[in-house]
Parts: sequence; structure tokens; C-alpha cells
Amino acid sequence: MSRPTDDDLIDAWRAQPAPLLPLLHAFHDRDGFVSDAAIRAIARGLRLPLADLFGTVTFYHHLSRVPGGKRKPRVCDGPVCRMRGYTELSASLPGATPMPCAGRCDGPIPVLQEDSVLVGTSKDALTEAPSPLPPAYPGQGTECVFANIREPDRATLDGYRRTGGYVALETAQKRGAGFVLRTITKSGLAGRGGAGFPTGRKWQAVADAEGTPKTIVCNADEGEPGCFKDRALMDHDPHALVEGMAIAALATGASRGFIYLRYEYPQTIPILQQAIDDAKAAGLLEGFDLMIRRGAGAYVCGEETSLLNSLEGKHPFPRNRPPYPVTHGYEDKPTVVNNVETLCAVAPILVQGADWYQGLGLGEHAGTKVISLSGDVLRPGNYEVPIGLPLQTLIDEWAGGVPGGRTVQAATMAGLSGGFVAKDDLSVTLDEPALRAKGSFLGAGGIMVFDDSRDMVEVSRQAMHFFADESCGKCFPCRIGTQRLTERLTQGEHGAGPKGLPQWTDEVRDIGDTMKATSACGLGVAAPLITDSLLRYFPDQVERHVAATSQPEDQA
Ligand SMILES: Cc1cc2nc3c(=O)[nH]c(=O)nc-3n(C[C@H](O)[C@H](O)[C@H](O)COP(=O)(O)O)c2cc1C
Ligand code: SF4
Repeated sequence: MSRPTDDDLIDAWRAQPAPLLPLLHAFHDRDGFVSDAAIRAIARGLRLPLADLFGTVTFYHHLSRVPGGKRKPRVCDGPVCRMRGYTELSASLPGATPMPCAGRCDGPIPVLQEDSVLVGTSKDALTEAPSPLPPAYPGQGTECVFANIREPDRATLDGYRRTGGYVALETAQKRGAGFVLRTITKSGLAGRGGAGFPTGRKWQAVADAEGTPKTIVCNADEGEPGCFKDRALMDHDPHALVEGMAIAALATGASRGFIYLRYEYPQTIPILQQAIDDAKAAGLLEGFDLMIRRGAGAYVCGEETSLLNSLEGKHPFPRNRPPYPVTHGYEDKPTVVNNVETLCAVAPILVQGADWYQGLGLGEHAGTKVISLSGDVLRPGNYEVPIGLPLQTLIDEWAGGVPGGRTVQAATMAGLSGGFVAKDDLSVTLDEPALRAKGSFLGAGGIMVFDDSRDMVEVSRQAMHFFADESCGKCFPCRIGTQRLTERLTQGEHGAGPKGLPQWTDEVRDIGDTMKATSACGLGVAAPLITDSLLRYFPDQVERHVAATSQPEDQA
């Protein structure tokens, strides 16, 4: 096949919905990088201001701007991969650059090269990345989104139908939008992407909103370090997501849908595309135009309004709210943005009922949550737990405890965004009220475990460095605060000042409080939970760190 020209590429995408990202990928794939000439051609073709487009392209991590850049290996430097030997692996791969957590914390270190994902811990032993099924269910309760995921051929249309697939969509078509909205609202299903907003209320708001076309956006950006559940759902149960989105469209009157998939999951693209094509061919998506859009590498694009800007081809800053996406979302029209796990829960709830779903939680809690568990545990993986399960039960009984006879020193919550829980608080139950009482939250459900040999100041430094790198820079306190906190956590780089610990602590608290009070999105609000929890649980480690970095009075 001959090499497509600039005009071929632009003509193929210009009239499509949300064309910028696919067009950037088309040039990136063709040339191995995004050249100045490509940016100029795209700006002309899509009538975008050149300076804006230049700023947008350079914002994304994975769009290389140097010839051959797409071929260079990118090695995951997330918290768990750092414990597994990121530094050595990266040093052994010529031209390697770090990439933030690539969503594979339950296996060896991932390396992204072109559109392949390899895994391994040494240069000569890299193999194609597997996508592990969730471990056999070890609990006493009942699963919702994972209940059928281990069935043979579940990812195919036939296999999905054989195990109850698309019955919920049929029921929704027969009984109508009102039935769907009532059932989802009554079930207590809340967003599984981080913020926990009630799904029924979100859908009702879009159903009630004026303006068409309405849009369903699936947030498959999964950029939170320590989270890898959405990938498992999409790889092994793609029709569950397609069915959930089709039901959301029916309930709200939406006629188009996007799955915004993170760049780091290239193997998931053909799986999802096949599911969409097969569902379309079977007449299951009448009146609902469902498309995949691949992200380009930016954690903040998981924030729903940043994601919408990214889809629209704008600079992916989060938007100021209100107005909210339910009334002013994609192209300013009513839009549902839901996480993969949230959407995958919809069909089982419609089939088995709101009361069934409610009853899956422990005590007064409704439903289940998939936890991506990794780090210092014997059996890392995705576990669907009843909401309210004790953390210690998950770690010790479900995941086999900590290897090497060690004990748990700390566990992160919400990936990194919830900071740490440690000491007596390790007895906490996995539900939002209990975790919020400890100054944390469950969020998207990533939990990374650190044993008693780990340096928690260094873990905190890596976490804050991630937030600093990923801050979009729109708000001054977040942009500068994440940098200043990273410096204060860095061994030997910046002194704690002549007053030592009290001054260090005051400054760290002050920066964190300012960020929490003034940041426009969850990144800047959550990042200080790392330093808050470090100070709360590990004052001894902080004291040693500050003593090692403090300048003596006469040198200050
Ligand atoms: C910095 C940041 C990153 C986020 N990343 C994701 C993500 O990768 N996936 C996701 O579903 N939600 C993410 N969220 C939450 C979304 O903004 C939004 O609440 C969610 O997609 C709504 O879907 P849900 O109600 O089904 O959870 C992120 C939020 C913030 C502040
Ligand atoms: S809080 Fe940080 S990441 Fe969020 S909008 Fe402000 S600068 Fe960007």
C-alpha cells in the first residue's frame, strides 16, 4: 500500500466526530513522530490556530516530536515498577524514556515500543504483555462485573450472548427509559472512576436536559497509578461495556458515544473495535453511533472535563464548573461521562434488580468495587470486593498476605490520590465513609501495598513527582505546589532551612492547604494527601529525612 499523503489523512478524518486525536495518531503512525510540517498541515486542515495546536501536541507525553521517537522504548516508572527494577531495566534499553504508570502493576515491568506492550524485568527477557483474568473469586459474597468474565469466549458476541449478554438491553428496549433510570437510581450504583457520583442521578440529569445530540462518553483513560481494572474489563468483557453504553444511550436519549481509551492500552483497541462492529452488525446499536478515541498520554485527561476538551481537539485543561457535562458536555451538549466499571455494572443490575445489587455490599453499603491490588502482596490482581470489606481481609486472606515474612507498612488508596493508610488504620473497611474518616478515599480502587522495608519518604517523593509532572499548569498553586513539595521530599537537594523539622512541616502543610483550597480539579486537591498522610503516619521517617537535608544555621 502506498504511503498516504497529508491530504489523504486529513480528508479521511476532517468530517468525522472528534477528529484531532485520530489525525494526530495517523501522522504519528505514518512518520514515527509528529513533525512541524504535520502540525501545520493539521492546523490548516482542521482550521485550528497553529500556536494552540502546537501547545496541545506538546502537552501529550506519547506524541513524539523527534524523528524515530515512536520507536523508542518507554519504560513504566510507576511506584510498583520502581520496586521491581525499573532503574536497571531502563538503563539496559538504549534510548529508553520513563513513562508514568502504564496500568500493569500486577505483572512484570511494561515497556511500550511502537504499538506493542512488552513486559519483563531484563532486556533479554521481554515478552508480549499478557492480560491476566481476575484471580478466581476468593470471597464469600457475589461478584457483579466479574461474575461472568472468566467464562470461555466471553469476549465474543456469541460467547457473551451464551452467558446472558444483551438480555438487559432487550429488557431496557421493552420497558423503556423510565424503568432503566428508576432501577439504576434505586440500585445505589455510584461512579467507579473516582468521584463516586450517583449514576442514576447523572443519567436522569442528561435525560432531562435540553439540547441534542446527546453523548455517552466512556472514560477508559485509567491513568491513576496502581489502577488496572478497566483494562481487564475491556480485554475480557468488551460487550459488557458496549451493552452498558447502549443502555445509557437509551435511558438518556443519546445518539453518539465515545470510548476514550488511554494510549498505553494498544492491545485493547482491536478487542473493543471488534465488539462494536459485531454489536452493530447484529443490529444492537441502532441509532447509537459508538466510536473509540485513543488518548495520547496525559493523566489529567482522565478528569472528565479535560477529557471532553481533549475529544473536542482543544487544549486539555480541565474546565471550570458549573456548568457540568450533564448539561454542557461534549460540544456543549448534554453528556454522560462514566467510568468503564460503572458502565459494566449496568447490565447485571438491570437483569438481577436494584435490590440484588444493593445487597452485594456489607452492612449498609451498596454494591461492589473492583480493587486493583499490587505491590508487596503474594497475589496481586483485580479483586471485586463487597463494599465494606476490611482492607486487612483483602490483603491477608484474598491476596495471600505480604511475601518474605514481612508486614504491611502502608497501603495507598485511590491509586495514589488517596495518600496512604498505615498503622492502626490498616484495619479500615473499604467504603467511602470509613476511608474519608481516615483522611483518605477509595476513588478508582487502586491499592498499592508497601512492606516494612520500604522508605516511605522516597515513595512519597515519587508520588509527588508524578503529580508535578502531570499537573496541567492551569492553576498556579497546583503547578508550583507539586514542584515545591517534590523538592521538600528530595533527599539532599533542598535543605529544610535553618529551623529544621518545624519549618519543614509548616511549609509542607501550608503548601498542601493552599493547593486543596484553590485547585480547579481533583489532581491539585488530592496530591497533598500524600504529604498529609506521610506526616501523620511516619513522623520518624520525616524527621530522619529532614535531619539529613537541613542546612546548619551558619550556612543558611
Ligand atoms: C486528575 C483526575 C484524573 C481522573 N482520571 C480518571 C480516569 O482515568 N478514569 C475515570 O473513569 N475517571 C477519572 N477521573 C474521574 C472523572 O473526572 C469522572 O469523575 C468520572 O469519569 C465519572 O465517571 P463515574 O461517575 O462513572 O465514576 C479523574 C479525575 C481527576 C481529577
Ligand atoms: S488542579 Fe492542577 S491539574 Fe487540575 S486544573 Fe489546576 S493545575 Fe491543572
